Amino acid sequence: MRYEDVLADPEVRERYDLIGEIEKITTRMSHNLDHVQSATDKAIRVAEMLVPFSAELNGGNFVRVDNGMLNTIKIAGLLHDVGIYDEENGTARKNDHGKRSHKWVKGYLQDKNVDDGTKESILEAVLNHSEGSDKLVGKIIAFADKMDVRRERVFVTPTAKDDKDRWQYRNILDTDFSVKKGVLIVNYSTDGKLDKSSFAQNNIQKKQVSLTESLANHFGLEYCFLMDGEMWLGAELGLSDKKFDFPLQIR
Ligand SMILES: [Fe+2]
Ligand SMILES: [Fe+2]
Repeated sequence: MRYEDVLADPEVRERYDLIGEIEKITTRMSHNLDHVQSATDKAIRVAEMLVPFSAELNGGNFVRVDNGMLNTIKIAGLLHDVGIYDEENGTARKNDHGKRSHKWVKGYLQDKNVDDGTKESILEAVLNHSEGSDKLVGKIIAFADKMDVRRERVFVTPTAKDDKDRWQYRNILDTDFSVKKGVLIVNYSTDGKLDKSSFAQNNIQKKQVSLTESLANHFGLEYCFLMDGEMWLGAELGLSDKKFDFPLQIR
């Protein structure tokens, strides 16, 4: 089964349309088709960028990002949030959505032409996308998903403190990645109005740090976070400005 077939499948599209409609009035962060496609794009970019580093780790046995692996990542990326919709009460909700996604995707893949290894990889990544995974595809999906934090995903005026922190996402335009001098660099592009301390206190930001660490460790890389090309969380993570020639050229 190819990614393009899953993307064109009315069953999948209707599911995300439904989630999108419910979330317009109930939640603060969207999990619609736009989000899962954006997360998938980020997953592909990071996979193509990082997987060549596996060669050193495996003593020269090159781990290639082949079409099969890309297809697995794309399908997992596209399907990871189908469980945001909870059939039992007809709502869209985050609690246990990895488990619900896993259940739905397992049923969905049952009569599709997918080999057992690919199926296992997709299901593992979908199940563990919120908390993080031990497997490479799972690590890439969890990282790319959490990095898809930007203006278009945030709805509703803030009220509680957590909302105010989350509201900071309105100031993020996009997130990009690069590798330089053995460091995985995450760069947030903002509109210049982001309250950094509020953003740093947010749970998703903390998860972004832990998932980045997990991914970087897998490839033997250090990691840091930039904001608009300037060091942000770097010193805190033990990196000095001297390691880089600022401003960095982020692709
Ligand atoms: Fe999710
Ligand atoms: Fe997601």
